Amino acid sequence: MAILDVDIPPWSIDLIYGNTGSGKSFFAGWLIEQAYERGRRFIVLDTKVKNHIGLVTLPGVKLLKVKVGARYNWKKLIDFDQVLVVPTRGTISRIGVDGLVEQYYKPLLDELFRRDRDRIIVVEEAHRYNPSSRRPGKELEQLFREGRDGRLYTVAITQSIADFPKLLFRQAQRHFIFQHYVPNDIIYLNRMIPGFSELNDQLRKHDLVEFVPPDKVRVIKRELVIRRTRHYG
Ligand SMILES: Nc1ncnc2c1ncn2[C@@H]1O[C@H](COP(=O)(O)OP(=O)(O)OP(=O)(O)O)[C@@H](O)[C@H]1O
Ligand SMILES: [Mg+2]
Repeated sequence: MAILDVDIPPWSIDLIYGNTGSGKSFFAGWLIEQAYERGRRFIVLDTKVKNHIGLVTLPGVKLLKVKVGARYNWKKLIDFDQVLVVPTRGTISRIGVDGLVEQYYKPLLDELFRRDRDRIIVVEEAHRYNPSSRRPGKELEQLFREGRDGRLYTVAITQSIADFPKLLFRQAQRHFIFQHYVPNDIIYLNRMIPGFSELNDQLRKHDLVEFVPPDKVRVIKRELVIRRTRHYG
């Protein structure tokens, strides 16, 4: 069987985008499994209760369940090399994903930026960190702009490029793109990636395009993305 080889550089800004159900989190989990096998440090900020929970079956991965009302010592959390952060069900029902991001994940990202080094930071629903599609949120922007110095490698996941500030978009080192349907998105992607719409036509559900600007493009077929741990999608 062919083995999929995706580079995990010392530092990057990776964007993963596609519609709901396209396979973004599944693929992000795969990337993290590859990083884990290479002994890399990571933290996943999950916005769903169970999405990435399978990763805790990897020995040494620390799980933090964010419970609304509780206070957390982020400094202590950063001492762990491999971390998964998830909300509890009650947290989501009481404050929603936006509350989770505002009250917990933004301060955590800020702490990571200030104190951490050599870490892959997976940000689910990254569009929620921005006040609008034109204005990036401070926590994300500082990671994108200055994360390289501390080798803080960001993987930002979002459902739509239209919702994602162009200022951040342009900083990406690498794009992982699932099949697109919205004409405006396709037009936009065509401008950025030579021949995107032909590639897009070839993609099946869960296939994706890896694009490294300015012109490196390849299709990754879904059957090559083989997960070691369970994904709850
Ligand atoms: N390469 C693949 N091979 C087989 N199944 C896949 C693959 N990629 C994704 N899936 C399945 O598709 C479903 C949706 O995947 P996933 O949870 O990653 O979607 P998503 O893009 O993160 O959606 P959302 O935006 O709603 O979070 C899951 O059940 C997952 O197991
Ligand atoms: Mg997802």
